[in-house]
Amino acid sequence: MTARDALSLTARDALVAATGRLAAAGIDAAGGDARALLAAAIEVPRDRLTLHLGDVLGDEAQARYASMIARRAAHEPVAKILGERTFWGRMFEVTPDVLDPRPETECLIAAALEGAAPDRLLDLGTGSGIIAVTLLAEWPGAQGVATDISAAALAVAGHNAARHGVAARLDLLCADWFAGLEGSFDLIVSNPPYIAAHEMPGLAPEVRLHDPQAALTDGADGLTACRAIVAGARAHLRPGGRILLEIGPAQGQQVCKLLTGAGFTGVRILRDFDGRDRVVGGDLHEKPR
Ligand SMILES: C[S@@+](CC[C@H](N)C(=O)[O-])C[C@H]1O[C@@H](n2cnc3c(N)ncnc32)[C@H](O)[C@@H]1O
Repeated sequence: MTARDALSLTARDALVAATGRLAAAGIDAAGGDARALLAAAIEVPRDRLTLHLGDVLGDEAQARYASMIARRAAHEPVAKILGERTFWGRMFEVTPDVLDPRPETECLIAAALEGAAPDRLLDLGTGSGIIAVTLLAEWPGAQGVATDISAAALAVAGHNAARHGVAARLDLLCADWFAGLEGSFDLIVSNPPYIAAHEMPGLAPEVRLHDPQAALTDGADGLTACRAIVAGARAHLRPGGRILLEIGPAQGQQVCKLLTGAGFTGVRILRDFDGRDRVVGGDLHEKPR
């Protein structure tokens, strides 16, 4: 490309070149990702991008786009490049310190919202805060506590709580699961790290290299967190309370067994939109022992 061509590079030219580069780097959704990043680079809403494809890109926009495309070609997820992602219709800050929220986690939200609104809910391992913040935004009368072992993740959750107007109803606690938690809850929710150590090498680089290790795996069989959460849940749930846990698609029966063994009733597996086991739920009918 000559200097003169570079000066008159249109958004369309840049998009075509970027799509080719991402495809060559093995990015599955090369076209969609190139469009999302272009919209951000030229600062237009994603659904208005087509209207701007004939625009000539200025130097700064070209440099911004080139840097974004280089990061994506190195398999950094789009949400981590943009610093945000949509979850349950709301935009959340996402940084290297938190798990990039997954659309599958919306199954847990859907399952929670099918039940009665709680007075007080607990989100264990909150990460970016998507679960606690979404549920508090959907249930304006509820209070919540969200814990994480990562102080850096809790800072992101705090920003997201403020962004969606629920900060006054959400306490953030840096804790190892239930450690130091006071009071009881009507609903416990968690998307714990459930990937087994032996599954880690098979993960996509977007996940393996860009999500925090502690958000992904226990370094063992993938069920350490679930065991700890189920073991502590009864003592922190009010009679009539519920628990909902996101699981790996092969963990349904084992997690059901854990909940049944801990005295939960109505233990059930819920599937995601692809038909895979995704959430296990249980109810507590008696008083905690
Ligand atoms: C799979 S991520 C889920 C993040 C967020 N809830 C979501 O759904 O996107 C698991 C989270 O659990 C946190 N975590 C890991 N071990 C923990 C522990 N022992 N106590 C509390 N949180 C822990 C990680 O820091 C991470 O934020």
